Amino acid sequence: MLNFEFYTPTKVYFGKDTHRKVGEIIKKYGFKKILLHYGGGSIKRIGLYDQVVQDLKDNGIDFVELGGVQPNPKVSLVRIGAELCKKENVEMVLAVGGGSVIDSAKVIAISALTDIDPWEFSAGNAKPDKALPVGTILTLAASGSEMSSSAVITNEDKLLKRGFNSEFNRPLFSIMNPELTYTVDKFQTGCGIVDIMMHTMERYFTSTKDVDLTDRIAEGLLKAVIRAGEIAIKNPRDYEARATLMWAGSLSHNDLTGAGRESFLRCHQLEHELSGMYDFVAHGAGLSIIFPAWAKYVYKHNVEKFCQFAVRVWNIDMNFENPEETALKGILATEDYFRSIGMPVRLSELNISDEKFEEMAEKCTHYGKRVISGYVPLGKKEIIEVFELCR
Ligand code: NZQ
Ligand code: ZN
Repeated sequence: MLNFEFYTPTKVYFGKDTHRKVGEIIKKYGFKKILLHYGGGSIKRIGLYDQVVQDLKDNGIDFVELGGVQPNPKVSLVRIGAELCKKENVEMVLAVGGGSVIDSAKVIAISALTDIDPWEFSAGNAKPDKALPVGTILTLAASGSEMSSSAVITNEDKLLKRGFNSEFNRPLFSIMNPELTYTVDKFQTGCGIVDIMMHTMERYFTSTKDVDLTDRIAEGLLKAVIRAGEIAIKNPRDYEARATLMWAGSLSHNDLTGAGRESFLRCHQLEHELSGMYDFVAHGAGLSIIFPAWAKYVYKHNVEKFCQFAVRVWNIDMNFENPEETALKGILATEDYFRSIGMPVRLSELNISDEKFEEMAEKCTHYGKRVISGYVPLGKKEIIEVFELCR
């Protein structure tokens, strides 16, 4: 096990009706003026907006609001949010929504306290040294942003999607009521399941040995998510399934499943090029296409780990005569599962051709400045080969 630091300062309020405490919670922290930030209208359709607004008023909390966050959240709205916070002397940002809203809120909270343009943080040209506190009411189990140290923003002019990590990205508190996810449709539920699994699997497929505890936490989480995912797709109002997905989403990406080992989210790097280039690609749908291709490209370089995954997560019998066969079966089982919950597993299903492979690969290497490390280091040529396997 490698040395590690583990810091998850976000206070979690989990369970039924917890969102009804939002005003009381904010009041306890002493914030008097907040920005209420949300997406394209789902929170109004499910009645959450009215409840939150009423609760803020009942607790004497003044607020300004900014809706309209789009999936793959745009830097242009972040700029507007940051200016609004400055003008209105906002003390904290409350994000009500999924990962896109939370990420937008995080970068607004950082940009509100500086004159640096928000994109500079995403582009890696500037590092935050302070931020307004962010609280969240999560409405979609997927990104893990409600406890994570990252924020992912899209620059619509440059067709670039970039994430950056900072301890200033960790929310102060997150309210998680699984019932708020009953209205998430099958497709977004599927995207969430894939994203949750991938946050754990990306950390799992590492070269670090002797991380048995972390491996077993990861495998247990994956098995619970696979089962809960099947149930939630069939019955969107199954509380236990929705609760499992919601909590797993947070634990998958709050660094627990990476403790003690090298972890780098490789498939995520390739996926961000995909949804950065093609805005209609949802993050989870991009990942369900990239993972099987990446895994097939690299598995022969760590057959042992892929066998462990196949046997422990998918209950596949170990073929000691031909371990490669077992390893491949685990990858195919994952692909079949993604397909079974309605996720695409090939680019052709999204009508995406090879036209932009070269450009996406170039961007992914930061124009030749980096190689994606892993079982097989991925430079431009190798990234194109992985994209080819996605076709
Ligand atoms: O915009 P609204 O109207 O709210 O609708 C959203 C959106 O259309 C809808 N939705 C959310 N909650 C709902 C609901 N619909 C019905 N009922 C509800 N309760 O779902 C759609 C997708 O929302 P979005 O927030 O985009 O999805 P998700 O939570 O999957 O977030 C995806 C974003 O997070 C980033 C992704 O790259 C992507 O941009 N990620 C952020 C991470 C982080 N900060 O740690 C890590 C992840 O790896 C990921 O990269
Ligand atoms: Zn993700």
